[in-house]
Amino acid sequence: MKYKLEIAKPFGTKSSLRAGIRRFVPLIAEERGHIAVALVAMLVSSGATLVAPVIIGRATDTYIRLKDTRGLMLSALVLLAVYCVGIAASYTQILTMGSVGRRVLFALRNTLFTKLQDLPLAFFNENKAGDLISRVNNDTDKLNQFVSQALMQFVSSLFLMTGVAIFVLSLNIRMAAAALLPAFGVLVVTKLTSGWVKRRNLKSLQSLGGLSSEIQESLHNFKVIVAFNRMDYFQRKFKVVNDANYTASVSTGFANNIFMPLYGFSNHLAQLLVVAYGIVLIESGQLTAGLLIGFLLYVNSFYGPMRQLATVWSSFQLALAGMDRISEVLALESNMPVVSGGPRQSDSVLEFRNVCFQYPGGKDVLRDVDLTLEKGKAYALVGPTGGGKTTMASLMARLYDPTEGSVFLNGCDIRSVAPAERARKVGYIPQEPFLFTGTVRENIVYGNEDYADYSTDQLAALLGKSNLSSLLARFPEGLESPVTSGGNSISLGQKQLIAFMRATLRKPELLILDEATANIDTVTEQLLEEILDRLPPETTRVIIAHRLNTIDNVDQIFFVNSGGVTLAGSMEHAVDMLLHEKRAS
Ligand SMILES: Nc1ncnc2c1ncn2[C@@H]1O[C@H](COP(=O)(O)OP(=O)(O)OP(=O)(O)O)[C@@H](O)[C@H]1O
Ligand SMILES: [Mg+2]
Repeated sequence: MKYKLEIAKPFGTKSSLRAGIRRFVPLIAEERGHIAVALVAMLVSSGATLVAPVIIGRATDTYIRLKDTRGLMLSALVLLAVYCVGIAASYTQILTMGSVGRRVLFALRNTLFTKLQDLPLAFFNENKAGDLISRVNNDTDKLNQFVSQALMQFVSSLFLMTGVAIFVLSLNIRMAAAALLPAFGVLVVTKLTSGWVKRRNLKSLQSLGGLSSEIQESLHNFKVIVAFNRMDYFQRKFKVVNDANYTASVSTGFANNIFMPLYGFSNHLAQLLVVAYGIVLIESGQLTAGLLIGFLLYVNSFYGPMRQLATVWSSFQLALAGMDRISEVLALESNMPVVSGGPRQSDSVLEFRNVCFQYPGGKDVLRDVDLTLEKGKAYALVGPTGGGKTTMASLMARLYDPTEGSVFLNGCDIRSVAPAERARKVGYIPQEPFLFTGTVRENIVYGNEDYADYSTDQLAALLGKSNLSSLLARFPEGLESPVTSGGNSISLGQKQLIAFMRATLRKPELLILDEATANIDTVTEQLLEEILDRLPPETTRVIIAHRLNTIDNVDQIFFVNSGGVTLAGSMEHAVDMLLHEKRAS
C-alpha cells in the first residue's frame, strides 16, 4: 500500500468531495439534537427578517397615509417585538453552533490521532511529522470554524434568499425579475470560478503543512545547527517555505475576496433596477409607494444574505480543503493487519523463511533469508554498517512485514499473532531508544502496564528482584529522576539503560538488543552481561553489536551483509568475514 500523502494532488473532484462529505456527516449526525435547536432558532430569526418589511410596508400604506398615530405606534411596537425575538433566536443559534463546532473539532482530532496511532512505520517514514501535526491542528480547525461560525449562516442565508425570492415573485413577477437579475450574473461568475478558488485554498493549507514541517525539523536539529553555526541554512530554508506560505495565503485571500465588491455592486444594481422600474409602475398606477419600499427592503434582505454567503463560501472552501487532507489520512488502512493462520509444528522461537524485504521505494535490504532461533539460546548478528541488522531486528518485532516470505513466532505466522501478545513475547531495545518526557519510572512502566499502580518503592523492589537495581543506581534520583524534552536531558547511555530495564522487566521470550551497549562504559556493560546471564534460561537473546568482544558468549553468529545472512561458525570466522568485507569495499 502507498503511504505517501499527496502534497499537490488535484483537489475538488466530485469523488473527493463526496468522500469528504461522507466522513463529515457522521460527525455532524452525533450533534443532530443541537443542530435541530440551532435550525429552529435560525428559522425564527430568518422569519423575523422576512416579516419586518411586511409590517413596514403595511404601516406606510395604511397608517402613514391615514395619519393614524396609534396604529403607527402599535406597528412600531410589533416591529420591536419581532426584532427582539429575532435577536434572541440568533443568539441561541450562535451559541449552540459554537459548542457543536468545538465538539466536532474535538471528535475529529481524536479520530485523526487514533488513526495516526494505527498506521504502520512505513507511513511515518514517508511523511513529515510537521505536515501531520498541521493536519491534526490546522485542518481540523478549519472545519471547526466552518461548523461553529459558517454552517448556520450558510443555511440561513440560503433559506432567507429562497424565502425572499418566493415572496417577491408572488408580489410582482416583473419587479421580482428586475430585482433578481443581477444575482443570476453573480451566480454564473461564482460557478465558473469555484474550481480555481478551491485550488487556491488547498494550496494554502498545503503550504501551512510545509511550514510546520520545516519548523519541526529545525527545532529537532537545534544541536547540529548550534554546533555547525549554520543558523543561516535553516533560515534560508525557512524563508523559502515561509515565502511560499505567504504567497499562497495572499493569493487565497485574493481568490476568496475578489468577488466581494461584486456582491455590493449587484445589490446596488438591483436597487437601481427596482426603483427605476417601480417608478414606471407607480406612474401607470400598477404599484403603490409602500409596495416599492417593501420591495427595496426585500432587495436588501436578498443581497445581504448573498454577501454573507460569499464570506461563508470561502470558509466552506477552506473546510472542504481541510476535510480533503484529513480524509486522505483517515482513508489509509494499516498494511499490517492481524491475519488468521494456524500454528505450524515447530519448536523454534522465531523463524525467517525465504524472507525478502525492501523499504518503500528502496532497494532490496534482505534477500531470501532463512534463519531459526531456538528457545534459550543466544545469537549475534554482526556485519558492516548498513548491512541490514536493524532491519532484521525490525522484522523480528514486526515493525514491518516482509515483502516476500514469512516470519514465524512460536511456529505461528507473526502476522497472525495479536499485537499485545507479540509485544509481550518480544522485547526490543532499539538502536536509538526513544523516551517520553516524564520520569525514569514512567518510561519503565510504559512498557510494563501491569506495574502502573505500583508505588515507587514496590517498583524499585521489583527491579531489584530482576537484578536491575545496579542500573537504577546510575540515576541520581532513582526512579523519580526526571526525563525532559523526549530524553534530551539524559545521556545516550542512560537512555539505553532505561530502554534495557523497560524491555527486560517484562521477561520476554525473545530479547533483541540492537547495539544496546554501544554507549555504555565497560563496567556497566559488565553489569548488563550479568543481568542477561541471570535472565530466565528459556529466554532467547539476539544481540547486534559492532564490538565483537560483546558477543563472545553466544551460541551462533550470523553475518548480515548486502541482503544476505550467512552463518559464521565461530567468532574468528566472523572477524575474518568482517575484515574481508572491509578490504573488498
Ligand atoms: N527507514 C528506512 N527507509 C529506507 N531505507 C532504509 C531505512 N532504514 C534503513 N534503510 C536502508 O536499509 C539498509 C540496511 O539498514 P540497517 O539499518 O538495517 O543497517 P544496519 O546493519 O543496522 O547498520 P548499522 O550497523 O549502521 O546499524 C541501509 O542501506 C539503509 O540505507
Ligand atoms: Mg543498525
